Amino acid sequence: MAGRARSQAQAVVRVEGLTKRYGSVRAVDGLSFEVYEGEIFGLLGPNGAGKTTTVECLEGLRKPDQGSIRVLELDPWTQGRTLRERIGLQLQEAALPDRLKVWEALDLFSAFYPKARVADGEELLARVGLLEHRDRYIGKLSGGQKQRLFVALALLNTPELVFLDELTTGLDPQGRRAMWRFLEELRARGTTIVLTTHYMEEAERLCDRVAILNQGRLVALDRPERLVERLAINRRLDLELAEASASEATLNALQSDLERVPGVRRVEVGPDGRISVYGRGERLAVDVLGALLDRGVRVERFQMERPSLEDVFLALTEEA
Ligand SMILES: Nc1ncnc2c1ncn2[C@@H]1O[C@H](COP(=O)(O)OP(=O)(O)OP(=O)(O)O)[C@@H](O)[C@H]1O
Ligand SMILES: [Mg+2]
Repeated sequence: MAGRARSQAQAVVRVEGLTKRYGSVRAVDGLSFEVYEGEIFGLLGPNGAGKTTTVECLEGLRKPDQGSIRVLELDPWTQGRTLRERIGLQLQEAALPDRLKVWEALDLFSAFYPKARVADGEELLARVGLLEHRDRYIGKLSGGQKQRLFVALALLNTPELVFLDELTTGLDPQGRRAMWRFLEELRARGTTIVLTTHYMEEAERLCDRVAILNQGRLVALDRPERLVERLAINRRLDLELAEASASEATLNALQSDLERVPGVRRVEVGPDGRISVYGRGERLAVDVLGALLDRGVRVERFQMERPSLEDVFLALTEEA
């Protein structure tokens, strides 16, 4: 109970029963969660799940239909101006004119924020790998370079809390890893980060806790490793059959055979004789291979993996 009281005191975002409709579409449908100070909190969910709508309500850019929201103890809708001096938010691509240069955008944004200094802006540009492009027109930046600029702009006012909507979409693998390190440094300095992402590897690596949304509702909220543990599977077997064993008829028959093996929860049969078997238990691999041998099937490749956050995500969002 004491632990619970303490964690509540540290909540910098409190959402209760948030509902937002667009006409007949319930984009967000009775959502409740909290974000704690100093954590990286991930919002995950398929396209249209309501992530951006939720983030926009938290930023005070959209008015909720129902429910209550407190961000840094403020009501984002009625106290949005005060709030936005203390938070960072990532802009959408269309929000900046093409004929503005990178450094001019930083200059412009510095003027909005009392806490921002252009010198910090230069350091931020260096951190997101854009310093060499400071004199370029925004219209001439690549998609990933624009994305980096938007992250730099979101951090210009040294916010206590920053919202990043799909921050690494369009970044190359090096850029993505550099961004992860940067966010980890920000967290170490005490910044709270709320991000949305479609990259499960990113959420698993970066987020302290993740909320999975589906059709505007919360379907799970926990630490990534706990979500993986809670899934009714703890093993994934990836198999590849020899060509001779991979005809469509054999694969279909195999699928129903494998589904009857004890411990098996789900069997995915892909093209080219690839099969993934999800299940649990120490004997899973032995029993699955046994079933294949009984049928005289030749296995070319066999690999056992721990399930990932992506497996959890697919299981939770397909089911609903
Ligand atoms: N301005 C709008 N007007 C009408 N409907 C909207 C508007 N914005 C979003 N929607 C609808 O609300 C739902 C949630 O959209 P939202 O953008 O919040 O999803 P998302 O989780 O951010 O998706 P994505 O992963 O594609 O970014 C969708 O069904 C979408 O079509
Ligand atoms: Mg979105």
